[in-house]
Amino acid sequence: MTELSWGRRYLMCPPEHFGVLYEINPWMHREVAVDRDRAREQWDRLVATLEAAGAVVELLPAQPDVPDLVFTANAGLVDGDVFVPSRFRHPERQPEVPYDRAWFEEHGWRIEELPEGVSHEGAGDALPFGGVLVSGYRLRSDAASHAYLSRLTGAAVRSVELVDERFYHLDLTFCPLDDRRAIVNPAGWDDYGRRVMEALVPEPLVLEADEALAFCANSVVVGRVVVMPALPPRVGRQLEAWGFEPVECRVDEFLKAGGGCRCLTLALDVTLPST
Ligand code: ARG
Repeated sequence: MTELSWGRRYLMCPPEHFGVLYEINPWMHREVAVDRDRAREQWDRLVATLEAAGAVVELLPAQPDVPDLVFTANAGLVDGDVFVPSRFRHPERQPEVPYDRAWFEEHGWRIEELPEGVSHEGAGDALPFGGVLVSGYRLRSDAASHAYLSRLTGAAVRSVELVDERFYHLDLTFCPLDDRRAIVNPAGWDDYGRRVMEALVPEPLVLEADEALAFCANSVVVGRVVVMPALPPRVGRQLEAWGFEPVECRVDEFLKAGGGCRCLTLALDVTLPST
């Protein structure tokens, strides 16, 4: 089995200004208070866990008034030295973009823009696997964004329709593990998307409903280490049988905003397969 060629370098943003200040997914409830100290502890532990697994973590400075900036998976799409900033569906997250773009500019990336009016929410909705870029659409990203992404990156995009509001980003339904295996949550896809993914992933770990709702697909893979927001025994046994080392890293404070381990990271070492 060949390990993923990416996933050893991540961008993360400390949760100094994290909170649930608006509701743009079914997990968010403004009346549920975030415990900032706990959030910080959980985030620090996630950083330490990724570093212990051999990953390098780089920091995007925290900013006031953009409470979801911590979810760097949505900053944009990385392809080698090219960065495509996200175009967020919801106005609440649009003010994040200048901060994301500035970080990538300052760190030597070339910026390529999607056209205005076409939404795409970055790596949260697009993950490479099996020689293509799998990208979700409908709930946050527009289907039309896929052709533009393909043109900007040279990657073939495989489109998958997301149909369940609770799994509003692709990374709540799909987690590549190595060149043949991935954690999948087909409940989030339409019938055609299920067939597409069945054809693409030779050895899927199919989540059961409660496992998917615990955000098991929202995991970070560093070589053979799988850092997961929840680790149900059945999932752990399957991962171990495949030679992975699953590690639970609780991020409950961030689940209040509908984000898990993967959402809090953006892989910086991705080069997309070109056609
Ligand atoms: N509150 C954020 C939103 O709804 C959470 C983003 C989670 N990110 C992810 N990649 N799934 O946009």
